[in-house]
Amino acid sequence: MDTSAPLPQAGAVKQPTDLPDVFDPRIHAAGPPHDAFRELRDRAPVAWQEEPAVLGWPAGPGFWAVTRHADVVRVLKEAGTYSSWLGATQIRDPAPADLPFIRRMMLNQDPPEHGGLRRLAARAFTPGRVARFEETARVRARALLAAAVADGGEVDLVRAVTDDYALLNLTDLLGVPPGDRGLLHTWTERVIAYQDPDEPAVLDAGGKPLNPRSPAMLAEMFGYAQELAAYKRKHPADDLMTALATTELADAELEMFFFLLTVAGNDTVRSAAPGSVLALCGNPGEQRRLWRGEVGTDTAVDELLRVHPPVLSFRRTAARATELAGVRIAEGDKVVVFHVSANHDERVFPDPHRLDLGRRPNPHVSFGDGPHVCLGAHFARLQLRVFHEELRACCGGVEAAGEPRRLVSNFINGIKSSPVRLREP
Ligand code: HEM
Repeated sequence: MDTSAPLPQAGAVKQPTDLPDVFDPRIHAAGPPHDAFRELRDRAPVAWQEEPAVLGWPAGPGFWAVTRHADVVRVLKEAGTYSSWLGATQIRDPAPADLPFIRRMMLNQDPPEHGGLRRLAARAFTPGRVARFEETARVRARALLAAAVADGGEVDLVRAVTDDYALLNLTDLLGVPPGDRGLLHTWTERVIAYQDPDEPAVLDAGGKPLNPRSPAMLAEMFGYAQELAAYKRKHPADDLMTALATTELADAELEMFFFLLTVAGNDTVRSAAPGSVLALCGNPGEQRRLWRGEVGTDTAVDELLRVHPPVLSFRRTAARATELAGVRIAEGDKVVVFHVSANHDERVFPDPHRLDLGRRPNPHVSFGDGPHVCLGAHFARLQLRVFHEELRACCGGVEAAGEPRRLVSNFINGIKSSPVRLREP
């Protein structure tokens, strides 16, 4: 049933007062709060959320949570109204002094400026260059999985296979020498896992946690990006850093690209791979269909990305007063879209909590939409397809061997560990 009809009294919709909280990063560590999202979609599809102080981070002004598929797509497409530049793209407000700095990244820009950098990046990130990595990714997946099977088949999939798989594929694409790969892991952890108590906070001189996207926190990574670019100019190779270092990008833009690609390209696949296996463990019937070849791996990968979107949310800021789903949004308000909720919107996906590896159509928004739609989607899909093909080839099936541990974050749907058993072929 389509219940997305416009709410009565557009512009005067009263917010219910007893709405569930989907802001607290700790809630997401128990898995996406699907009941809360369902309630928001049904009762208040654009819902006010308080932003209290949490885990040592200061309180914020609050935001509008957008939870229905149609509204999420609208916000992502209407960049003139919902800006990535005004307040950048994270729920937490950046320090005003850091804002000019993070706006150098195309993720935090609006059209038309965004288009210039995006075209430059797209030229370096060609489908041909990505396709050439298929064989490397396959050999890597096979080796990591073979070692896991040789170990008796009961492993923490994250530590034994998927963390390395995602990181090493990305560092190959970028052209980072093998000895430096660990550095990239540390830097992404600092940025993505900063809400998680397991990740030690980096403190400023006054003992306060450093904002993960501040110049102070990123100085080391930026220095490295410049060194690597200088090396690539002298020793060009078929990789992304060579392509970027030899364009007209300014130094500061190059550093930001390196940062963006490192973070966007690592943690997302690191989440998608174990998340997709967890979904298969919870659905043995669908897993059998995949193992028997009754569904295409490409279609299956998209459905796995729908039920386990690596990115939970992204933020925009209203550039002018507007109205969404009948709710008045003031200029300057924070607007946060929840991809995980849009992907489970029953107005678009019949039986949304059922994993259907043959689902078609499947207009999930795991890669976003509009001008910022993921630039690495083809690289991500390739890695996930190859990973699942090799998983099928190496074992007779996979089952959970313990509870997974999830990241404390309202941004990345991360999985810190996931004990699984790989069955005999
Ligand atoms: C399953 C894996 C991935 C998922 C779910 C994902 C998701 C996303 C999403 C939702 C956005 C939109 C951000 C916004 O709306 O503001 C995005 C943007 C982006 N992603 Fe991905 N991503 C993945 C993998 C990758 C990989 C592997 C790379 C590169 C190696 C990459 C590079 C980028 C870049 C550069 C942007 C910024 C695009 C722009 O601002 O125009 N992503 N990604």
